[in-house]
Amino acid sequence: MTRQETIIILDFGSQYSQLIARRVRECHVFSKITPFTMTAEQIREEAPLGIILSGGPASVTADGSPACDPEIFKLGIPILGICYGLQLTSKTLGGKVVHSQAREYGKAELLLKGRRGLFAGLDHDQITVWMSHGDKVETLPEGFEVLASTANCEHAAVADLKRKIYGIQFHPEVVHTPQGKAIIANFCRNLCGAAGNWTMASYVDIAVADIQATVKDQEVILGLSGGVDSSVAAALIHKAIGKQLTCIFVNNGLLRKNEAGRVRQLFADNFSMNLKYIDAEDRFLSKLAGVDDPETKRKVIGHEFIEVFDEAASQIKNASFLAQGTTYPDVIESVPIGGNPSAMIKSHHNVGGLPAKMKMKLLEPLRCLFKDEVRELGRELGLPEEIVMRQPFPGPGLAVRLIGAMNKPDLETLRDADAIVVEEMKRSGWYAKTWQAFAVLLPVKTVGVMGDERTYENVVALRVVDSCDGMTADWVKLPYELMETISSRIISEVRGVNRVVYDLTSKPPGTIEWE
Ligand code: XMP
Repeated sequence: MTRQETIIILDFGSQYSQLIARRVRECHVFSKITPFTMTAEQIREEAPLGIILSGGPASVTADGSPACDPEIFKLGIPILGICYGLQLTSKTLGGKVVHSQAREYGKAELLLKGRRGLFAGLDHDQITVWMSHGDKVETLPEGFEVLASTANCEHAAVADLKRKIYGIQFHPEVVHTPQGKAIIANFCRNLCGAAGNWTMASYVDIAVADIQATVKDQEVILGLSGGVDSSVAAALIHKAIGKQLTCIFVNNGLLRKNEAGRVRQLFADNFSMNLKYIDAEDRFLSKLAGVDDPETKRKVIGHEFIEVFDEAASQIKNASFLAQGTTYPDVIESVPIGGNPSAMIKSHHNVGGLPAKMKMKLLEPLRCLFKDEVRELGRELGLPEEIVMRQPFPGPGLAVRLIGAMNKPDLETLRDADAIVVEEMKRSGWYAKTWQAFAVLLPVKTVGVMGDERTYENVVALRVVDSCDGMTADWVKLPYELMETISSRIISEVRGVNRVVYDLTSKPPGTIEWE
């Protein structure tokens, strides 16, 4: 890969490692989280401008606590230890860390000895910082001096200025340290000498060169879903290798209204990609007909998808790579921390999901990008806002939103109701402000009057939630007028629905989807 300014973050299992990476990238410097076991030699090879040692849940005073290669401190590369990272630095270089009586957790006032270096350009000599630690550094290693203290913690910021090794007890990466971003920027710019030239445009060049060097003259296939990640991966790989990429798009009959047409038009027509469109609607729906158990629905769909995809992929001769839109959170969250799988946050269906019989290498060009960076990259590559800002849509599609036995007429009803929800959310500007908005069709009939006639028809539930990662969610307080428009349009325009209700359940205890 072409050289780029990089800061390496050695991860000691902190819940905030991703935030550190974000903050560094916000300073326009590329950052990379790696396990703390990366050796000094490996780091030297990557030639980063700086190294950050993250916090972590362990205590350096305990036997077998995670430690980095001590040679790292001799590389001459600036280092910033945060919390556990500070304590590990102190212990490794000959200082003393003790278990402190009072655990310090929450906001603290940090008194600076000077506004230089790490603290250059800050407004005041006293700033609010976020603390979360049990241990503290009692004796500093030789060559270190105190840069700042709090009432409870004398060694809250320390440094060996000559060796450019810094340590802070507080967490600059969290929003509760309001000047934290400036402190991280000072580390990257002033102390590591980064120019800050990491932008999406520069990333496109680097990623394209990297894909070309990896793929050479071989063929790549990619399962295109129409979602943000697979679409951006397709556009990026296509820019790099053009017709050596074939995208496979499976219409499983469970897509949103006009979805298949839009994907074909954009990728096959506008981008001139090799797109293998597979109309498997009948195949999926005949297997699903009458199935009402949610888990069975998911299993049937998953199984069928692999079969259809395999068949299509096997027709592409000499395909050596399977491309996926795996993103950074998928990667980080799937790595066992410190070799301890119990510390793993979640396993992800994208990672390691390659069917064993497909003997292909993985190509994951979004592996180091966060979601909003993926969106920015999509824009850079010329993808329309409609794709770049698309809300998440589950793999099993409308099947998880049609409660009860699967059948084609009900799917049509749900698809029509759902299209109205999306249309009105977009028209009112609420689509971009929410995580997901969709209709659910309930197998419940209620009485109504339409015109002079009594009706006995289905109920649609409207589900609109806000979330930052899908793990927790709040139901959205939509304006009544918007709910009214959506409801009256569904009832008057969608055949077979005479009642709309709004879901007022947050997650937990509910889930976002109904099944
Ligand atoms: P839940 O319903 O578990 O959903 O709160 C969390 C997020 O995951 C999506 N979701 C799925 N995505 N296959 C998928 O690819 C599934 O079976 C599935 N179930 C839920 C859901 O839309 C939400 O964004």
